[in-house]
Amino acid sequence: MLTLVIFLLSCNGLLTVVTAADVHLYVSPTGSDLNNGTDAATPMKTIQHAIASLKGAQYSTAYIELLKGHHDLAATLQINVSNVVIRSYQRQAVYVTGGKPIESRYFKHITDHDVLAKLPPNARQHVRVVHLPDVGITNYGTIQEFGFNAQNPAQIEVFYNGKTATRCTVAK
Ligand SMILES: *[C@@H]1O[C@H](CO)[C@@H](O)[C@H](O)[C@H]1NC(C)=O
Ligand SMILES: *[C@@H]1O[C@H](CO)[C@@H](O)[C@H](O)[C@H]1NC(C)=O
Repeated sequence: MLTLVIFLLSCNGLLTVVTAADVHLYVSPTGSDLNNGTDAATPMKTIQHAIASLKGAQYSTAYIELLKGHHDLAATLQINVSNVVIRSYQRQAVYVTGGKPIESRYFKHITDHDVLAKLPPNARQHVRVVHLPDVGITNYGTIQEFGFNAQNPAQIEVFYNGKTATRCTVAK
């Protein structure tokens, strides 16, 4: 590449070669947005931050390299820069979701007697609850009735092993 550029320049002294290099930004759920993300060892934390940092930058193609784990989006991702490739770094297992995984250890038996009294006796031992603020979930959307053709944005939903958990209820 270098020899080609020199050759062109020597053939035509007026030729201007403008090349912007590719950029690789590394993003990991365990990273920090205080990092500049140019090295896989010191990744940024959020895809949003990586995109925002490309604004006004000079590059040919920007690769946002996602490191393994769940990249949970706090808000809808706006991609407002061009020539960007968002991909898994070295085919690592990467999940980009609008949700937040909750480990099974957070699901507890019900101990509140008033709540237990409302459940059929044979169901009481089988119901589990999770207190959402304990797992960092505080934005529940608006809990309301909605169905087909509803104009309302979807409320918070629960998925179990990737499938909608129809027997789950979010209660205030
Ligand atoms: C990015 O941060 C690293 C240290 O984490 C530093 O070595 C490197 O020079 C920085 N790169 C830029 C372009 O600022
Ligand atoms: C561009 O998108 C990024 C990431 O989604 C966001 O942080 C930034 O505010 C947006 N900038 C503009 C000018 O819309």
